[in-house]
Amino acid sequence: MTVHDPEAWRSKPQAQDVDYPEPEKLHKVLKEIETFPGLVSTTEIDRLSAQMANVADGKAFLLQSGDCAELFSYCNPAQIEAKLKLTLLMSLIIVHGVRLPVVRVGRIAGQYGKPRSKPTEVVDMGGEKCTVLSFRGDNVNGLDIADRAPDPERLLSAYFRSAATLNYIRSWLSSGNADLHAPQSWSFHHVQSEYLQCEFGRITREIADALDFMKTVGATPGDGETPANALNTVDYFISHECLMLEYEDALSHRTSQGLYDLSAHTVWLGDRTRQVDGAHVAFVRSIRNPIGIKVGPSMDAEELIRILDAVNPAMVKGRVTLITRYGAGNIKDMLPQHIRAVQSSRHSGLVVWCCDPMHGNTITSKYNSSIKTRMFSDIVKELAAALQIHAQLENRLGGVHLELTGDNGVTECIGGSMELSDQDLSRNYLSYCDPRLNYEQSLDIAFLISEVLRSQRTGKGLESDAIVRALSQYMDVNLPSP
Ligand code: PEP
Ligand code: CO
Repeated sequence: MTVHDPEAWRSKPQAQDVDYPEPEKLHKVLKEIETFPGLVSTTEIDRLSAQMANVADGKAFLLQSGDCAELFSYCNPAQIEAKLKLTLLMSLIIVHGVRLPVVRVGRIAGQYGKPRSKPTEVVDMGGEKCTVLSFRGDNVNGLDIADRAPDPERLLSAYFRSAATLNYIRSWLSSGNADLHAPQSWSFHHVQSEYLQCEFGRITREIADALDFMKTVGATPGDGETPANALNTVDYFISHECLMLEYEDALSHRTSQGLYDLSAHTVWLGDRTRQVDGAHVAFVRSIRNPIGIKVGPSMDAEELIRILDAVNPAMVKGRVTLITRYGAGNIKDMLPQHIRAVQSSRHSGLVVWCCDPMHGNTITSKYNSSIKTRMFSDIVKELAAALQIHAQLENRLGGVHLELTGDNGVTECIGGSMELSDQDLSRNYLSYCDPRLNYEQSLDIAFLISEVLRSQRTGKGLESDAIVRALSQYMDVNLPSP
């Protein structure tokens, strides 16, 4: 077997490469970043790897979620906390139905780079049409059209903002905020839907009961004792798209076990940078972190296996998560062939299958062609189809990958229990990138996953009327009646 060269990515074609006007300035910045401490530790990365092996085995469920792209300005306590609270709520709802630990991974503390379909865009500058470089994310250039030249100094800001965000996450979680005894403090009061309020009330009462019982039998510490244990803190991992290879490389650290990318616990390859002979695949092959690969409708089944062979030659269970994002209209044609290809390859049972019901379902608003949106019904349709197809092919859906925001009242996706319409979008549309699920829409999805997986677990059919109604609209088969 040939030994893999960790520098091999440098000689391969790099899709979405950034053309810096002053390469020597970039070089200087990267040299400085190389001297910085890693943002995460190798021990934490190994812990996530072990948890991802559990996901592959059906012993845990993956919830990966966050913004499409973070702006540097999102590095503030309110926005970080809102995301954490929403994640805790969603994972509680999912754990309750699935009865498996949830592995929480945020698209956070480094999701500053964006792949673009076009390198330039035409903008209106004082009545004149001008072509400018596309915005590539805060770590490359500015959203302001006068600030589109790539600036390497932005990578330094990206590092420090990632560090500050992660520091806040760590201190918030270790200060009792994730305590299972007080899920009410995770802002459920924002939610207007009576149905969601009622379901959440039921779950928290059941949990309070169970905790009370455990306390009575002496299985948990009583009030006033606060050791960091499973009930009052949680694991939360960070992730971002592995796009700027020079930055990832500068934060990678060689150990006797191999190379670790210390910029995040896990990184994923986007649908535009997953070429089997490209630099991004060569880079992720060389790191020990668990990795994700986006799998879109243009992925051919044979190519998928070649990518798996390339990035997981040692056949490590849970090392690769396939994040499928076909679109509601394509999933039925694409997912079964990809599942069958993996099942009949040597990677069978080793990968985690994760459904991203967001990226194949982006459309433009009927009322404003510059607004991108997603229909909540398409998102549910793709997710429901994924749950159904995996079950039919005796495969396992290991997790979901969602774009969402913890900020209240955001109007970027159409539908959900708030019944947002296309005309509502302009009311509070904050994303400058892809449209995200708002607080309530995210909880709708969590309840849906929880209910479907609970019914698959117990074989009892779906109990909740509202979910049955929601699902029957989107699935082809007749669901068992409650
Ligand atoms: C993303 O996850 O924000 C993204 C750009 O996804 P994809 O690569 O699947 O298009
Ligand atoms: Co996106």
